[in-house]
Amino acid sequence: MKDLHQEHMLSALSVAEKARYIASPNPMVGAVIVKDSQIIGTGFTHTPGSDHAEIDAIKDVYKKFKNEASQKLNNSSIYVTLEPCSKQGRTPACTRAIIEEGIKEIYIGSKDPLQEGIEELQKAGLKVKSGLLEDKCTEFNRGFFSRIERKRPFITCKIACSEDGGIGLTTGGDKWITSKKSREDVHKLRAASDAILTGVETVLADNPRLTVRDKTLSKLEGEIHPRRYVLDSSLRMQGNEHLLTDGLGTTIFCNDLRTVSYDKPPIKIVKAPGKSKRVSLQKVMDYLNKEECNTLMIEAGSKVNTSFIASELIDEIIFYIAPVKLGKDKINFSEFESSFSKIGTIDLELKEISKIGPDKKLITKPVYSKDGT
Ligand SMILES: NC(=O)c1ccc[n+]([C@@H]2O[C@H](COP(=O)([O-])OP(=O)(O)OC[C@H]3O[C@@H](n4cnc5c(N)ncnc54)[C@H](OP(=O)(O)O)[C@@H]3O)[C@@H](O)[C@H]2O)c1
Repeated sequence: MKDLHQEHMLSALSVAEKARYIASPNPMVGAVIVKDSQIIGTGFTHTPGSDHAEIDAIKDVYKKFKNEASQKLNNSSIYVTLEPCSKQGRTPACTRAIIEEGIKEIYIGSKDPLQEGIEELQKAGLKVKSGLLEDKCTEFNRGFFSRIERKRPFITCKIACSEDGGIGLTTGGDKWITSKKSREDVHKLRAASDAILTGVETVLADNPRLTVRDKTLSKLEGEIHPRRYVLDSSLRMQGNEHLLTDGLGTTIFCNDLRTVSYDKPPIKIVKAPGKSKRVSLQKVMDYLNKEECNTLMIEAGSKVNTSFIASELIDEIIFYIAPVKLGKDKINFSEFESSFSKIGTIDLELKEISKIGPDKKLITKPVYSKDGT
């Protein structure tokens, strides 16, 4: 049975949802302030440089209770999905506001490895309880934690394919395999990602835009289009592709720099040579880490998928499976022998299955063996 504290933390998590498309590179945080068992204010992380969840929740109390707000906040409790910041960053420390408002206890979901908020609040005499619904709160910010702890983003690979695992045809032809509904869902995935990466063969074959084309999401504050990256070792793109001409900017990773007509802002060309003739994925990860990228989505073909899987860099694979078979001319989603439960030597753990229009959506997690076998 859930207790009241868990109920309040679940409310904070649900408010944190509002930060999903706008908070990065900051973590997505939700906060609720409670007095006499009633929620009196809620808040979430806004765009970088704007209010964090705790400040937003305090302001919400002021908005609702006006002259009585101070009195309401005094001796109240706050539930926050992540440890409050104690250091001045783009905004002042949240711990200071919590202390100044006389909040008397705080319930925290997960700890923030970059902050010392817990110690500071304890020193100020607040009752602090950390680790409430910790797994849920940590999972919610898996992108932020991945960047801080692993120095790379959380990586999701999206694969739209046929029942027999085909992502396209060697003979070319139809661009779309899955339904309009699935493609709309992909736009939400894109919006929730800081960046999208693809391979030059996909650009040459499909000329994708890799933008978010969803009316409700494009109304949100802040930049909604993810940053775009292409692996193109010898700069084979021509210069007339959407990614190079739509003005939204694209970063191209290559093995060797050479003069190309499109080498000017907002296009960026970065040398990231690997041992083979291809781009080094480790150098790409280092670059994304410097760019504070929390979440990366891969929307590429078989070769890029294979490189990322072989490097054990994929954290999640989302399949959209259309009820069609592409047969002998199909391009498989990876170069390994693969099914929806196994790719080469890697098992896929099924996390979620749902139906989208006529298609199936599978959310899976690759299980890499610890000894590399
Ligand atoms: N259904 C879907 O979800 C979906 C999504 C995307 C694409 N596709 C389809 O996939 C097909 C293209 O697949 P593809 O496998 O040929 O191409 P791809 O994976 O998109 O791009 C592969 C190219 O990327 C470059 N590259 C640079 N560094 C790399 C590295 N470390 N690892 C791997 N590649 C690297 C290589 O070209 P250089 O050596 O010249 O650099 C390589 O040939 C198209 O038919 C497209 O329609 C389907």
